[in-house]
Order: sequence, then C-alpha cells, then structure tokens
Amino acid sequence: MLTLHQSPASPFVRKVVVLLHETGQLGEVTLKQATGTPLEPGSLPVDINPLGKIPTLERPDGCTLYDSRVICRYLAERAPKGPRLYPEAPRLWEVLTLEATAEGILDAAVGMRYEVALRPEERQSSEWLEAQWAKIARSLDALESRWMGHLAGPLCMGQIATGCALGYLDFRHDARNWRQGRPALADWQARFAERPSMKATVPG
Ligand code: BEZ
Repeated sequence: MLTLHQSPASPFVRKVVVLLHETGQLGEVTLKQATGTPLEPGSLPVDINPLGKIPTLERPDGCTLYDSRVICRYLAERAPKGPRLYPEAPRLWEVLTLEATAEGILDAAVGMRYEVALRPEERQSSEWLEAQWAKIARSLDALESRWMGHLAGPLCMGQIATGCALGYLDFRHDARNWRQGRPALADWQARFAERPSMKATVPG
C-alpha cells in the first residue's frame, strides 16, 4: 500500500489527490495527516523527506517520492485507467510548462501566506509580498492570453495544477481578486471547479 503524507490545506497535496480521484486510485493510497510549518516541523515527514515537505509518497517497494510533480508523474504512469494526464510529445512540453506555471503561482502564493501567517507584522516585507504577487499576476495574464486553447483541451496534469493554483488563490488570497480583467480564465475555473474531483478536495 502507498502512503501519502498530506494536509488538506496544501494545494500541492490537492494536485495529487485530484489525480487520484481522476484516475480511480484513491483506494490504493493511505492518507496520513501531517501538520507543521517551515518554522516548526511538527509531524511533517522529515525522517523520509529531508525537505520536510508534503506531499511525500512512501512506497513499499521503492524510494520515497517527493515533490508533487514527481508524485503526480509516478501516479499517472501507474494508473490502470482514466485520462492520459501526460500525453506524448510534442503536447507533453505544453503540459509540463503549464504545470510549471501553476507550480510557480503556488510557490509564490504559499510564500506570501507564510510571510503573513508566520512572521510578526513589523518584520513582514510589503516589497517582497508585492514582488510575489507581481509574479502571480504576470502568470495569470499569460494563462488568460496564451493558454486558454490548451485549457479547453483534453484533461491533463497542467489543467489540474492550474485548477488547484486558482483554488488556492481563492482560499488564501481572495482579497487580491485574481478574476479582475481575466474573464476567460475565470470562466474556465468556474467550469473546472465543478468536477467531482475538485469538489471533493476544496480546502477549508
Ligand atoms: C496553507 O494552509 O495555506 C498551506 C498548508 C500547507 C502547505 C501550503 C499551504
């Protein structure tokens, strides 16, 4: 049995769990709750992942896997059925770049969350926060202007990652109003959020 060290609030974990739903593999993975922060590792799996991050996937017959991109690639490859989440090249390069864009949005958005939630107010850097948001805003603009054709295509890991990234912006950065000026992306997100896999994994 595979063991996924996870927390439902983590958008990186959400990518993995959505994939498990979409590929019918939920029953093959034990979900083990891990709590902690970069300041206080708590029950984060530091003994099997030196980075102490979630998701981490323990396998009985192979090395422990991290991070979410490695885990998703592994689980997609072993899926007995379901959509081809990583298609053949050349489309594969688009999927991986879209996934990397969503991952970059998440890195910046989670970093902002930590800055506000873990540092005393007087030591928070508004310049750093705004620089992170600028990175996110540029990426959202790129999704709106260049990626809508791909997002409208067959289900892939890039779409799942994008759906989870936008869901996290709603969860932790709602006041930034990411939909403003991005109507096509907002429409796509509203439809994607209706998938049973996304509804089953809403953070909160
Ligand atoms: C959060 O609560 O925002 C969060 C939790 C785990 C990983 C990343 C973010």
